[in-house]
Amino acid sequence: MHIEGPVRRFLIDTASKRFSGLRVCSMLLLGMSVLCATAMAAPAKGDKPAGAEAKQTDSSQFVGSETCATCHEEAAKKFADNPHSKIAEMHGKAGASCESCHGPGKAHVDGGGDVTKIFNPGKHSAKEVDETCLKCHAGTHPNFERSPHAKANVGCTSCHSIHKSEDKTELLKASQPALCFQCHNDVKPQFSMPFHHKVNEGAVSCSDCHDPHGTFGNNNLKTTVDQNAICTKCHTETRGPFVYEHAAVKAEGCMGCHTPHGSQNARLLNMPSINTLCNQCHSRVANATVHGMGAGSDELAPCTSCHTYIHGSNMNAAFLR
Ligand code: HEC
Ligand code: HEC
Ligand code: HEC
Ligand code: HEC
Ligand code: HEC
Ligand code: HEC
Ligand code: HEC
Ligand code: HEC
Ligand code: HEC
Ligand code: HEC
Repeated sequence: MHIEGPVRRFLIDTASKRFSGLRVCSMLLLGMSVLCATAMAAPAKGDKPAGAEAKQTDSSQFVGSETCATCHEEAAKKFADNPHSKIAEMHGKAGASCESCHGPGKAHVDGGGDVTKIFNPGKHSAKEVDETCLKCHAGTHPNFERSPHAKANVGCTSCHSIHKSEDKTELLKASQPALCFQCHNDVKPQFSMPFHHKVNEGAVSCSDCHDPHGTFGNNNLKTTVDQNAICTKCHTETRGPFVYEHAAVKAEGCMGCHTPHGSQNARLLNMPSINTLCNQCHSRVANATVHGMGAGSDELAPCTSCHTYIHGSNMNAAFLR
């Protein structure tokens, strides 16, 4: 595990920038993105921004959501409490909404609902759909395109459903962890081990540790705001810095000793016993000598019964207190 690689330092904290995606969008508008152009500037009739002439031509291909609603009554009605209905409220109510994702609808409408003349994401590749969504969401999910999910053609609509989600805040097709287990059935048994992070019980969720939209780290692992391993966000007492650091924690990271999904060991250790774990790095002979025992260190009490502050200490170089 190398969860603390130096590249982390360049990670941008995007979580707090709710609307940065839309800022990207308006930047694209300065370019030539048709989708954004409508989202931002569709019925600009009354107060045309200077130099918008060229875009007006594109805009003429858009009919507005009210028109879509005349034939797609059901979809339009259900859309009222969708977070995307906010698009319409933006820019002095100049935003489109249906057509932000489906593209210009004039030809489709003129053709009496010609299905060949409208972009239906359900019939396009993951990559094409992702591009549509990322026009607005790249700001919050800048790592998506190089994430293991995107590379495996798992796209936005593999996990999200715009029109048919149960949950209107995150628009997920199913809630966690069921959503993830649909494809990651292999990790499911780990969360049924005697000791595990309580994901099935709802206390912790997969996305507390993983960002399905990709990160700079391996395994889609998140980091904390101060670029520590994500684990220290909740387990703050292990974070340090300590006067006496345990080199193993700094060098190997938490996974040098723990398996977070689940374990036979109550402390989620990746070894059946503490002493076996420690002896991987601290030779038994040395232990025996240091501890004044003739025999092997297996006969010692659990190492942590004395070396209590195993993650690091401010008081004692041997982590005794
Ligand atoms: C004159 C009626 C009419 C209007 C207005 C209309 N549609 Fe449709 N639309 C249809 C019909 C008919 C179909 C085909 C049957 C169906 O899927 O409901 C269709 C199908 C679709 C489909 C699915 C296409 C496919 O590949 O199966 C999408 C997406 C769609 N419309 C979006 C829109 C959007 C967005 C608007 C507004 C810009 C809009 N429609 C306006 C009649 C209309
Ligand atoms: C944020 C993007 C987005 C917006 C906004 C949006 N749609 Fe869709 N729409 C989709 C996606 C994605 C699909 C493909 C099916 C799915 O994944 O739910 C779809 C599918 C459809 C379909 C085909 C239905 C089907 O079951 O195949 C229709 C019709 C439709 N949308 C109409 C609308 C109308 C009308 C609006 C505005 C009220 C609208 N959409 C707004 C993304 C969007
Ligand atoms: C035209 C810009 C635009 C496009 C295109 C777009 N979105 Fe959004 N999306 C928004 C806005 C605006 C919100 C509401 C943000 C908020 O409430 O803070 C939103 C909200 C969401 C949310 C809910 C989370 C939240 O912050 O409330 C999800 C999930 C989402 N979008 C996924 C998608 C997917 C998947 C696609 C492509 C099928 C897509 N979006 C396309 C602008 C867009
Ligand atoms: C492998 C599943 C998966 C894929 C693929 C996926 N998402 Fe998500 N998405 C989630 C889950 C789970 C959440 C809720 C937990 C979280 O915030 O990470 C979420 C939350 C969101 C949110 C709201 C919270 C936030 O972080 O802003 C938006 C917006 C969003 N996704 C957009 C997208 C877009 C756009 C794509 C495609 C580029 C996409 N998602 C691909 C699973 C996925
Ligand atoms: C539609 C299927 C699908 C869904 C749903 C899905 N994944 Fe994935 N996931 C994949 C595929 C395919 C890969 C890439 C191949 C692999 O490594 O298994 C992947 C990769 C990953 C990886 C990286 C593994 C590695 O070796 O780097 C993690 C972590 C992950 N997914 C977590 C999640 C989480 C958490 C969720 C739920 C929020 C989720 N996935 C939902 C299909 C899915
Ligand atoms: C407490 C943090 C945490 C939670 C919660 C968590 N994971 Fe993980 N996950 C990790 C870590 C850390 C790794 C890397 C393990 C390693 O390197 O030994 C990992 C690895 C993975 C991998 C890739 C390796 C493998 O075993 O295939 C997948 C897939 C995965 N997790 C899916 C999930 C899913 C699905 C959930 C929710 C059901 C979940 N994780 C919940 C921390 C977590
Ligand atoms: C979202 C918060 C959260 C994150 C992130 C998290 N954990 Fe936990 N962890 C918990 C909770 C809650 C428990 C259960 C504590 C309890 O039962 O008292 C727990 C339990 C544990 C335990 C067993 C503790 C005990 O008292 O026996 C270990 C070890 C552990 N986590 C390690 C990790 C590691 C390693 C990571 C990073 C891969 C991690 N945790 C990430 C919340 C988190
Ligand atoms: C050198 C091995 C090692 C490393 C590396 C390590 N731990 Fe531990 N951890 C242990 C041992 C051993 C225990 C059990 C202590 C006991 O039983 O008294 C433990 C216990 C825990 C516990 C349970 C509460 C406690 O303090 O006893 C948590 C939570 C925990 N570790 C989190 C983490 C996190 C987070 C990281 C990464 C920052 C980490 N550990 C790195 C060996 C390690
Ligand atoms: C992945 C390897 C690794 C594991 C596992 C490991 N350690 Fe360490 N430990 C180290 C390294 C490296 C040092 C620093 C040694 C040095 O500076 O000479 C260290 C230092 C120590 C020290 C400080 C004394 C000294 O020599 O500086 C103690 C005490 C210690 N470890 C106890 C433990 C115990 C108890 C466990 C089991 C819970 C454990 N270690 C697990 C690698 C490990
Ligand atoms: C009965 C209490 C006790 C137990 C059990 C114990 N230790 Fe120690 N250990 C100590 C004391 C006391 C020291 C000396 C600390 C000092 O010099 O200040 C020490 C020192 C060490 C050192 C530092 C050696 C050095 O070169 O300075 C290491 C490494 C160490 N122990 C590892 C272990 C490991 C691994 C285990 C389990 C196999 C273990 N200890 C079990 C009490 C214990």
